[in-house]
Amino acid sequence: MAGEPKDPRPGAEMVLSVDEVARQAQAIAGEVSRERIAGLAGGAPMVQIDDLVAGYGQMEVLHGFSLAIAKGRSLCLIGPNGAGKSTVLHSIYGFTRITGGTITVGGQDVTALSPSQKLQTAGIAYILQDNSVFPDMTVTENLLMGGYLLSSGKAAREAADRVLDKYPPLAARRHERAGILSGGERRLLEISRALIMEPDILLVDEPSIGLEPRFIDMVFEILGALQHEDGKTIIMVEQNAKKGLEFADVGYVLVSGDLAMAGVGKELLENERVGRLFLGG
Ligand SMILES: Nc1ncnc2c1ncn2[C@@H]1O[C@H](COP(=O)(O)OP(=O)(O)O)[C@@H](O)[C@H]1O
Ligand SMILES: [Mg+2]
Repeated sequence: MAGEPKDPRPGAEMVLSVDEVARQAQAIAGEVSRERIAGLAGGAPMVQIDDLVAGYGQMEVLHGFSLAIAKGRSLCLIGPNGAGKSTVLHSIYGFTRITGGTITVGGQDVTALSPSQKLQTAGIAYILQDNSVFPDMTVTENLLMGGYLLSSGKAAREAADRVLDKYPPLAARRHERAGILSGGERRLLEISRALIMEPDILLVDEPSIGLEPRFIDMVFEILGALQHEDGKTIIMVEQNAKKGLEFADVGYVLVSGDLAMAGVGKELLENERVGRLFLGG
């Protein structure tokens, strides 16, 4: 297309506009059956969403969205900007107005719990997007902020020490202001802060955003260890669809608030239509 600016990403010479991606994605959308969702979960669901209708104020963003993932597994949501991916995480965490459907965690109905109840009683933690570190506080102080729901200052300090023991590069900088950390260290701090409450479920919104490639790999390694070594269940949104689908056991494509496709992460990665729309190839 003459006169259009070139996309700087390698391999993205033929760039589709956001509207065009949404239109084409809608065209490939099929009904994803309940059986398919249950099968992909990989066991008894740790997190299960059924027919969720949710949004903000008067605006409905999700129009009957369902999801299931078993304990210790990972699921990545991809899709066009504005599709409602973050809204799925917000809904699980308790930030949206839910007008229909249910969310259960470990069989317990948590649909109506507040975010702090979710963190305290349902073991759900939310990481990133609009949740960045406090730059003028030290690394340790930032970690302690993640423990504000703990019963005592002592419990919070012990939890911070436990997390610092896990990540020596962060421990080495515990007394430094978070504002001087590198992008990768800051992301590690954001993840670490969520671990203070020992959550079972991590909701991770765009872990790679704004990071240099070497830090992106580091962040996915850390998330991989949290899943495979510590048994955390991970539900992630990732604009970098390639990284997200390589990482996750299960991939969902969300379009205009509806589940358009679902599959094994690596299979979606090889799906030609998904590739054309979301992988810049
Ligand atoms: N906190 C909010 N308040 C009001 N509207 C919001 C809020 N967050 C997102 N939205 C709107 O909800 C829709 C879905 O957004 P979002 O879930 O952030 O999409 P995605 O993460 O897929 O890019 C968009 O129209 C967006 O403007
Ligand atoms: Mg988002």
